[in-house]
Amino acid sequence: MNITKDIKYIGVKDLSIDLFEGLYKVKSGIFYNSYVITDEKVAVMDTVEARFFDEWSNNLKEALGDRTPDYLIVQHMEPDHSANILKFTQLYPEAKVVASAKAFAMCKNFFGTDFAEKQIVVGEGDTLNLGNHNLTFITAPMVHWPEVILTYDSFDKVLFSADAFGKFGTDDNEDWLDEARRYYIGIVGKYGAQVSALLKKAAGLEISKICSLHGPVLSDNLGYYIEKYATWAGYTPEKDGVLIAYTSIYGNTKNAARYLYDKLTEKGIEAKIYDLARTDMYEAVADAFKYSKTVFATTTYNADIFPYMREFIAKLTERNFSNRTVALIENGSWAAMAAKIMRQKLEACKNITFAENQVTVMSAMSDDNKLKLDALAEELSK
Ligand code: FEO
Repeated sequence: MNITKDIKYIGVKDLSIDLFEGLYKVKSGIFYNSYVITDEKVAVMDTVEARFFDEWSNNLKEALGDRTPDYLIVQHMEPDHSANILKFTQLYPEAKVVASAKAFAMCKNFFGTDFAEKQIVVGEGDTLNLGNHNLTFITAPMVHWPEVILTYDSFDKVLFSADAFGKFGTDDNEDWLDEARRYYIGIVGKYGAQVSALLKKAAGLEISKICSLHGPVLSDNLGYYIEKYATWAGYTPEKDGVLIAYTSIYGNTKNAARYLYDKLTEKGIEAKIYDLARTDMYEAVADAFKYSKTVFATTTYNADIFPYMREFIAKLTERNFSNRTVALIENGSWAAMAAKIMRQKLEACKNITFAENQVTVMSAMSDDNKLKLDALAEELSK
């Protein structure tokens, strides 16, 4: 597949994977993207996951025709892209490997060699000329690992963006946004400051296409994707709305959560509700970063909070959850302490506003609880 006259796609589609990074459910697999730029010199952009060497190297051979690669540019050392570097160097022994110093240090760990005879070490602003195509490297530490570089081709105005702007899934008809958000928040969400710094550097570039290492090549309305990344990186709510995340043992906390959900939707408020024990936790995490308000509803359990809620809040706080309004619903048949514990955990986050109406269910929802939930719905609808 041609991306431009000189840039060809040689990536692969992984439909057999169940959990990306052993953690994130993927409903329709994932792409490991790779590209070839053919000019006076030939550059290959990254490899693919280990299991796909044969398919990828065949794609590469087909794209090369009678040429051989002069360079393998390694933008990111996570094995979904780097696993076949050693095999590539065995297949094309004359090719140089272009990467950051940190990437070569990682090569030594992964492959037992840092390719000393073939190394071209690049850093911020360094260039590599292929003929017409002049490549400029942009360092992007922690987007997603410390060694990451992005590559800008000023001839075709293509930004090779490493993991940035990627998404889960291989369905061409699926909208980019939801699975790109779940991917971003899950994988890079903690590193908003570094993503913001990268976006500042990229702002000066004229870009006609973004070639990520996952998901589709982006070529229309690029401002839309960049604006979404700026929103997520700044921990700014993307949408006014309420996420309700609950755990429930015998259904009583669920009743309270659903009662609130119904009251909110009756008022025309956009709301989503998740049973944390029975959902993809990372969908709920992504939606907590999407919406402006989150309601946490859980039971007291072993003098703590229910395990799935503990896990959910930990996933939020480790990703710098901030700039949100939160509300607390607790349930406890004798010494209810879930709200106090949740509050302590969330107080550690930046710029969190707690709703005035906090609800304590004592075993089952009472009429008094309903009045309090009505008041909470009113408060959250403002
Ligand atoms: Fe797609 Fe961070 O690797």
